[in-house]
Amino acid sequence: MKRIVLCVSLSLLLVGVLASCGKNAKKSDTYKPVIGLSLDSLVVERWRRDVDSFTRAASDLDATVKLRVANQDADTQIAQIKSLVDSGIDVLVVIPNHADKLTEVCRMVSRKHIPVISYDRLVNRANVDLYISFDNDRVGSLMANAALSAQATGNYVIINGAITDNNAYMINRGFHQVLDPFIASGKINLVKEIWPSDWISDEVKTRFEQLLSEEKNIDVVLCGNDMLAETVIGVLSENRMLGKTLVLGQDAELSACQRVAEGSQYATIYKPIENLALKAAALAVMLAKGEKLPAASTIYDGFYDVPYVKLEPILVTKENLEATVIQDGFHTREDVFRNVPRR
Ligand code: GAL
Repeated sequence: MKRIVLCVSLSLLLVGVLASCGKNAKKSDTYKPVIGLSLDSLVVERWRRDVDSFTRAASDLDATVKLRVANQDADTQIAQIKSLVDSGIDVLVVIPNHADKLTEVCRMVSRKHIPVISYDRLVNRANVDLYISFDNDRVGSLMANAALSAQATGNYVIINGAITDNNAYMINRGFHQVLDPFIASGKINLVKEIWPSDWISDEVKTRFEQLLSEEKNIDVVLCGNDMLAETVIGVLSENRMLGKTLVLGQDAELSACQRVAEGSQYATIYKPIENLALKAAALAVMLAKGEKLPAASTIYDGFYDVPYVKLEPILVTKENLEATVIQDGFHTREDVFRNVPRR
């Protein structure tokens, strides 16, 4: 009996020593954390910038990044995350294609004591170690307030982001928080709300064309992002309705800023991606080294309250293109005003 007790305590001691050796190894200055970066897709312009800024920031912090792109397919992303874990990573940074379908694989990663960061989009009910994004409710309220300041009455249409993306619900909440009193008072008539099955412009094109065939008198269209705004503006142009309807989007894509400069798009939302990527890379390296994150607010993921770092989005109209995207070097003045005749 004495011998059994001795063996058990010796093996426990051994496990403890090994574990602490491992941890110490990670914390040593020479250790290069390995970050697994799992991306939904590169379809939308901004994500290229996110990847470049994040990878640059990580390498400045002596960390390496293993990138996987899932081409808008949840099953592919799940398989890619499993292969990242098998290949050896110290922290997972994920931009989920689907807020619910990624829940289980993210929980699996956590069970392996690998920290998980939800980047820009939240994975629901996965108790991630950190959610970092721009304040998406504010994206919605900024857009709705801008629309109201230009067109306080009339027919409004909302084209939300993908039903698979938790951001779309937060932005929608921002829209309604501002618009509902005007809808209730009858000042605004919300003709239709469209929820696309994914961030797919073709689907939105068909559904908006269908809507225009039923109702031509549209004053404002609030779109989930600039890609969808571009689609709507294309349909309006085909129907000789350009300039009659205010269209708003988000992401401050170059083509959107050009449209804002020309006047075919009323506004967009600028989200300084560099700030998001730098902050996320720094927090990822801290988690990889087993360091405690600085205190943050929390957000409810449908089951847990998870640490939440939110950054401020910025409304962009013709009036402040210079003071926002151009001043920050997000786009050049030449590019933004490319289609505007010089006075
Ligand atoms: C959202 C993101 C937006 C947008 C969209 C489509 O989650 O916050 O910036 O572009 O995805 O990729």
